[in-house]
Amino acid sequence: MFRTNTCGELRLENAGQKVTLAGWVQRIRKMGGMTFVDLRDRYGITQVVFNNEIDAPLCEKANKLGREFVIQVTGTVSERSNKNKNIPTGEIEIVADSLRILNPSEVPPFTIEDDTDGGDDLRMKYRYLDLRRTPVRKNLELRHRMTMEVRRYLDSKGFLEIETPMLVGSTPEGARDFVVPSRMNPGQFYALPQSPQTLKQLLMVSGMDRYFQIVKCFRDEDLRADRQPEFTQIDCEMSYVEQDDIINLFEGMAKHLFKTIRGIELTEPFIRMPWADAMKYYGSDKPDMRFDMRFVELMDILKGYGFSVFDDAAYIGGICAKGAASYTRKQIDQLTEFVKRPQIGAKGMVYARVEPDGTVKSSVDKFYSQEVLQKMKEAFNAEPGDLILILSGDDAMKTRKQLCELRLEMGSRLGLRDKDKFACLWVVDFPMFEWSDEEQRLMAMHHPFTHPKDEDIAMLDTDPASVRADAYDMVINGVEVGGGSIRIHDSKLQAKMFEILGFTPEKAQEQFGFLMNAFKFGAPPHGGLAYGLDRWVSLFAGLDSIRDCIAFPKNNSGRDVMLDAPAALDQKQLDELQLALDLKDK
Ligand code: AMO
Repeated sequence: MFRTNTCGELRLENAGQKVTLAGWVQRIRKMGGMTFVDLRDRYGITQVVFNNEIDAPLCEKANKLGREFVIQVTGTVSERSNKNKNIPTGEIEIVADSLRILNPSEVPPFTIEDDTDGGDDLRMKYRYLDLRRTPVRKNLELRHRMTMEVRRYLDSKGFLEIETPMLVGSTPEGARDFVVPSRMNPGQFYALPQSPQTLKQLLMVSGMDRYFQIVKCFRDEDLRADRQPEFTQIDCEMSYVEQDDIINLFEGMAKHLFKTIRGIELTEPFIRMPWADAMKYYGSDKPDMRFDMRFVELMDILKGYGFSVFDDAAYIGGICAKGAASYTRKQIDQLTEFVKRPQIGAKGMVYARVEPDGTVKSSVDKFYSQEVLQKMKEAFNAEPGDLILILSGDDAMKTRKQLCELRLEMGSRLGLRDKDKFACLWVVDFPMFEWSDEEQRLMAMHHPFTHPKDEDIAMLDTDPASVRADAYDMVINGVEVGGGSIRIHDSKLQAKMFEILGFTPEKAQEQFGFLMNAFKFGAPPHGGLAYGLDRWVSLFAGLDSIRDCIAFPKNNSGRDVMLDAPAALDQKQLDELQLALDLKDK
């Protein structure tokens, strides 16, 4: 047997047993006539001891080991005199009587320990070494457990796991596609799927009734902490359902994951917040509801007193930070600097403190009487000790977004965004369309296959921008962990939707004819949702970036620094594909 046990397995009750372990040398210490080796594998660390007095040549061999050597050791499990309470195997050690070096190692470029000295780039370049570190490995173990629970839950609800192709056609809606040239079809390109959206809808037309897939999706978009160019969706679709059926089933899955993975029993139904309220009160379609601090609009109260910044503003709104009146001038200046950062873009910030006697002292006292300030205080239900922070601007949506950033910053500063606390909600009733300045046309907010609310369909012709959709997102702690919708299953309504989105009938037919044609052959009403697996795992693991729960992630420029991809192609490959490059930036 190569090994009789793993490095995480042996305990005091195994004392006296003859065992063989294999693993990596984590650390070597020489003390007196003894050499101690910490032997590591996926399961843990076991101390191995070589005794110079008992077997000098063996000890000599051990002294020559280096970090990350792969070795096989045979010996006897013994009780340790110097016990280590921090690790499960800390009460025993293996007194070695043989040692085989299976593979030596060069000195690793960074320490393979929980707190490594390796910087981000180095760790990514040697990701296979980084993955030997316990915290990184644990994230992958968590990911595995989550996908197992997802499969268990969906299987119990009658879902079929069906694979859809990775080489598909390019669709212009949504993000940019990654494209793949076809050698057999010169000049033509596949696209990698941004999601299996249309294919899962076709599976409903096929009568599969309940489909799921844990599937890679590809989007050529700018990267952020919660975005990777390739990421994984738990993609689902169901026939003969209404919005509530989907929400209930996937809320059930969320609760199942919380219970089985985090041991958290969520008994209450998740809040369902209309999109319009989320924007009005939190300035975001993914509000972090671990704390409230909702926006209060102050146009009626603060306009008309000669303070031109407010008098000229289209929107004035504020938040009330409980107990933050003690903030010093310096802290308030920091907040002002924060909102003025180019990424946020506010011009300034007004603040007001509620004093112990209930009076309000503000940074714009010379324009406002105490009476007006008291009215403002009441609008916030503010109490002595509270700090009111106000932003204004000539674009309501933009100012709300700035206020959203300020709210999140205050939430963090006041310790209200604990990673072990979870606030889940559904944001519902999304608008069907949003205006794109870049494209100068309406775009589908979710995607063009989303069903408008029945009661709003009449407005498609008259006022499309006001039409709401049967679309919903699940949000946890300010992260959009999933989204979906009821779909259009009527080819005429689908054609109309493409028309509103600015497609000519020919273009719609060329790009989505396969779907509209399928809808002519008895498409059942259907709808679905996709959860972002990477985001779920990173929330449960308390990570700042989804990169840390992906075995081989891309860096911020979309590169895999370990594989050095993307890279130029050989001329031979280009010739086979009949491709010639004409790079603008040479
Ligand atoms: P959507 O585009 O909202 O919907 O994606 C679903 C979920 O996938 C996750 N996600 C991402 N995770 C990491 N990196 C990315 N670049 C990324 N983009 C999205 C998010 C998001 O909520 N076909 C529809 C779903 C449907 O309607 O059924 C879709 O793809 O958690």
